This record gives sequence, structure tokens and C-alpha cells, in this order.
Amino acid sequence: MNSLDELRARVATALTALQQCADEAALRAWNTQVFGEKGLLKKAMSLLGKVPKAEKPATGAEVNRIKESLTAAYDAAFSEAKEKALQLSLTTNPLDVTLPGRGRPRGRLHPATQILRQIYAIFADLGFQVYRTNEVETDELNFEALNMPAHHPARDMWDTFFTTTPGVVLRTHTSPGQIHVMREAAGKPIRVILPGMCYRNEAISTRSEIQFYQVEGLVVGEGVTMADLKGTITAFARRMFGPERQVRIRSSYFPFTEPSIEVDIDWPKDDPNRDRLTKGTGWLEILGAGMVHPNVLRAGGYDPDKVTGFAFGMGPQRMLMLKHAIDDIRLFWQNDLRFLKQF
Ligand code: DAH
Repeated sequence: MNSLDELRARVATALTALQQCADEAALRAWNTQVFGEKGLLKKAMSLLGKVPKAEKPATGAEVNRIKESLTAAYDAAFSEAKEKALQLSLTTNPLDVTLPGRGRPRGRLHPATQILRQIYAIFADLGFQVYRTNEVETDELNFEALNMPAHHPARDMWDTFFTTTPGVVLRTHTSPGQIHVMREAAGKPIRVILPGMCYRNEAISTRSEIQFYQVEGLVVGEGVTMADLKGTITAFARRMFGPERQVRIRSSYFPFTEPSIEVDIDWPKDDPNRDRLTKGTGWLEILGAGMVHPNVLRAGGYDPDKVTGFAFGMGPQRMLMLKHAIDDIRLFWQNDLRFLKQF
């Protein structure tokens, strides 16, 4: 570079080239050519060494002015290109930042688990422990130890599924758990509930499933009476269904209890489902219970002359159906989210 005129001419060319840069990449290349190590400005500086001393200040000022104008031109062109690129991306690939976010579906407990937990909480308040036992049982514990010898007609009430191992069945009720607890507690007082899945060979209908939950209760000790059973059931029913509930006790029959009872609660008069749920009687059965039969106490290793006990068996899914007027028990295990999401 030999003169200011040459510099001016090259600056003019550079500015024209700047106008023609189509995108950010081209602008950056231009920037290197002008401001880079071997760029136009470096060459302009070398001009300073060549002019006579007297012209130096003026030339220096001119080079500075040129540098500023090139910088300003570049900055303007660069932000214009960025703005253009933004507009282009907004129109060709529009992103609506005002769209609401996509919610993450949240899981929840199955309604049967919820009612089981409510039952555990109520009985925990009453001093009961939760005890789990096998879903696969021997015929001996499912029936015989519960005072139902082979060929006892009461076995008809519990038609079950047999495994390929002779004498081993899917339990038809949680009652055999009573024997397990007694044998483990070995003579000590007992106050437990036994929740779990049971199986029966049923024709599936709106009221019957081949698998369902039960919650068994067992209290054994010196001087346990029917009054204790009534008090426990009443306390439970009021906590589960409301403080005003009346409890009605009817005599009944189970091979493993003597005497045996069934327990009803009165259904709220203001519930529009009352007639349908109670078949017009106003009373609804919630469980079977009774004083543990001496033969069952013996099978568990307890002496019926020294201790007495009460037991009960309830269907938690049935209770849930009552609370929410659900009229088809099959809904529980169909896994239809439209049903499950309501709880
Ligand atoms: N095991 C009975 C059933 O499945 C329910 C039952 C009734 C359990 C009376 C009990 C009881 O403990 O005392 O139908």
C-alpha cells in the first residue's frame, strides 16, 4: 500500500463487498480480510511508516477514521444479517412459545390399594398388626384346619383352583392365614389383620371375579368376647363409612366360627343409590365374623379352655364399590385407565 488514495479505493471496494455478503459466514470471512492479521487495516497501518513525517498525524487520523467507519459498517451489516436469519427461522420453522407445556402423566395408587391402605390405617389405630400369608395354600390349611374336613358340605361355598401338586390349592379366602399366625405366635395373644388376594372358581359376572382381595382379622387371648368383636367392627364401620353409621348383627354360619355372624351397616338415607345398593332394605352386608371355633384354635396350637378369639373376613373391593356406587366388580382388574383415573 503506497498512498492514501489507494487505501481509499480499497476501502470503497471493501464496503461494496460488505453489502454483498449474504450470510453470517460470508460476513465473518470479510471481517478476516479487513481486520485480520494480513488484512486491509494492517496494510493501512504500514502506510504510516511510508509517508513523510509531516503528514503522519493527518494520515494517522485518516486511518483511524477509516477503521471506525469499517467497524461501524461491519457491526451494522452483522446485526442486520442476524435479524434476517431470525426472521427466516421464525417463518420457515415457526415455534409457538405461547403453547402450554406438555404435562407429564402422573401415576397413582390403584383404587384397591387405596382402600386397603385405609383399612390398614383404621386397624392400626385399633392396635392391629398387618400379617401377610401365602396365596398358595394346602388343602389342609384352606379347609381342614378351619374345621372343614374332606366331604364337608361347606366346601361347596369355596370352589377353588387346584395346582398340579396334589393337595395344593389357590386359597379361597384369607382365613387359613389364621392358622399360620397362631402357629407362629405360639400361645401369645394375637391382634392382626391378614390382607391379600384370594381365588375362586366362579363364573365371572358384575358381582363375582375369580380373584379378589380379602382382609381377615384375628384376635386371640384370654377373655376375648363377642362384645369385643362388636366394638371392633362398629369402630371400624364408623371410621370407614361415617360416624353416624348403625351396625346390625345377624346370626349366620361359618364352619370356622361359633357363633357366626354377618354384619350390616345402614346406608345413608340421602344417597340416591341407597335402594339399589341395599335392595330396598336400607341395610348392607359388609363382612362375616364370629368367635373362633375351638377346633380352629386347637389347629393353631391354642387351648380353647384357656383362650378365646374372634375373627372376621371382609371384602375391600366390595367396600370400595359401596363407597363409590361402582356396579361392576370386573372394572378392578381390566386396567381401563378411564375407570382407574377417577380415584
Ligand atoms: N372366610 C370367609 C369367606 O371367605 C369370610 C369369613 C367369615 C372370615 C367369618 C372369617 C369369619 O374370619 O369369622 O367367605
